Amino acid sequence: MPLAIALHGLDLPTNFYLIVFISLLLIFWRTDRSQVPLYFSNVETVGAIATLLPETDFRFVDLGCGNGHLLNRLARMRPDGQFLGVEHAPLPFLWAKLRNLGQENCQIRFGDYWCQNLDGFEVAYAFLSPAPMPRLWMKAHSEMTPGTLLISNSFPIPGIPAEQVISVPDRRMTRLYCYHPPTDKAANPAYSQAIESARPRQ
Ligand SMILES: C[S@@+](CC[C@H](N)C(=O)[O-])C[C@H]1O[C@@H](n2cnc3c(N)ncnc32)[C@H](O)[C@@H]1O
Repeated sequence: MPLAIALHGLDLPTNFYLIVFISLLLIFWRTDRSQVPLYFSNVETVGAIATLLPETDFRFVDLGCGNGHLLNRLARMRPDGQFLGVEHAPLPFLWAKLRNLGQENCQIRFGDYWCQNLDGFEVAYAFLSPAPMPRLWMKAHSEMTPGTLLISNSFPIPGIPAEQVISVPDRRMTRLYCYHPPTDKAANPAYSQAIESARPRQ
């Protein structure tokens, strides 16, 4: 808004504002609905995630993969793994797609990660915001199999103690919150509480 006010006096062609609006939309897409902005995992975080990957063949999904650089680095480090990124913002998707064109063990899919089934993935990674965490927890529980791993960069799942928290030695002091879906969901009271708090209020 301050920028718009400052530009108002410059007598720019009206199309300028439309172009800026469309560009921002293509980069950030519907952040008003997703409540997840665009920012990237850093190299130190990639290194920390690499230490959490299974020892043998595995499938890894980055929910909201941005420009796909995290996946690209991991896919090059671990040729025995299969990597998938799901991204709904058009320009980051295109960027991720182009970046990973030659990377055979890395696929980039355009779309909404809420529509991506997590069954079959040994590791799911999310760097989102506090808003979707309760719903993500429900999704992971209903779709991921016992023994698999959900990693959330920076945003813990409210009310659920992480089984492991990794402190990344970077400037922003990134923390990776690690969760394993429990084998007996009904026996975990924290699970029911998280579902209750994630339920939309009337
Ligand atoms: C904080 S960025 C993280 C990017 C990347 N995972 C990384 O760690 O570098 C979150 C990304 O999620 C995407 N996103 C948000 N909601 C989404 C949704 N419902 N479906 C697919 N992508 C989504 C955003 O467009 C953004 O690119």
